[in-house]
Amino acid sequence: MKIGVLTSGGDCPGLNAVIRAITRKGDEEGYEIVGILNGWKGLFDESYVKLDLKTVAGIVNRGGTILGTSRFGPFQQENGAETLQHKVARAEFDAIIAIGGEGSMHITQQCHELGINVVGVPKTIDNDLNGTDYTFGFDTAVQIATEAIDRLHTTAESHHRVMILEVMGRHAGWIALYSGIAGGADVIVIPEKKTKIDEICDVLKSRYKRGKLFSIIVVAEGAEYLLDEFNYKEDNRKKDEFGRARLGGLSYELANEIEKRTGFDTRTTILGHVQRGGVPTAFDRVLGTRFGVYAVEMVTDKKFGRMCALQGSDITDIPIKKAIGKLKTVDLDIYKAAKVFFK
Ligand code: F6P
Repeated sequence: MKIGVLTSGGDCPGLNAVIRAITRKGDEEGYEIVGILNGWKGLFDESYVKLDLKTVAGIVNRGGTILGTSRFGPFQQENGAETLQHKVARAEFDAIIAIGGEGSMHITQQCHELGINVVGVPKTIDNDLNGTDYTFGFDTAVQIATEAIDRLHTTAESHHRVMILEVMGRHAGWIALYSGIAGGADVIVIPEKKTKIDEICDVLKSRYKRGKLFSIIVVAEGAEYLLDEFNYKEDNRKKDEFGRARLGGLSYELANEIEKRTGFDTRTTILGHVQRGGVPTAFDRVLGTRFGVYAVEMVTDKKFGRMCALQGSDITDIPIKKAIGKLKTVDLDIYKAAKVFFK
């Protein structure tokens, strides 16, 4: 049995734990494991690397992906489907394990429909993939964002300032919500729940009246409805490989607006890719390892067209089709609990 493994889309901490687990479990089964470099692009380029016990030694705690990644869309290329089939046959892959987020799972599903034997492993720091309670990478991102809030607290308090922390989350505010709760944020702004700037200012003013001379706001970069209030006219932002606007930066405008409306000295911190880099938490290493071992078992059992998933404390598998199409947005009950502290 020859299995190709690839990582696709934005990287996240825990990817190497999955790659290691696939290789170790594959070795136990006597399978040949081959790394496909730089996501789906590696298949087109025929860039492969042998994965063995030596290659994956000492990587469980390493961030990023030793295989490299890209947002390459094979089906967006000319003769994409034919090329893909041809390359898979030429490499003699019996199966491919694709580790990726929603966009990558779409591609994996299309491969399945073409008759390629594929298994999906869900990853994204955004935690917005359906069918799995958590994706690995999310816990690490929350930890990093929480530490940032803790640090912002002390300087906010010293200077009597409003501090805005902008975190990732294109369509879902999971990172903002979890880190905001953990870090004791005074307002959390997420894409799923429209918040008016005046509502934010009201919280800041009422805190001031109570003698709280500083405040912490956590904003998800995808809370783009805020732009409407800034009279944002042109979308000059650069686009990513999928043609989506590169996010990040709306909290600079938000800070200006807050200063204008309240007179409070306000500063912005954009966490950016710091929250996607570095050492994974123990939770993400364990989840990645369990997913990796399970994915090889799925190949053995010919569970193709399916994605492994965490449900409760169990690892199980679901049709990839069920994981795509609609994103897993924030549980509004958790947001309701967080709102208790917006005062
Ligand atoms: O992987 C998803 C994500 O983390 C989004 O939250 C974010 O908008 C995007 O990646 C940014 O990624 P990049 O800068 O690599 O395109």
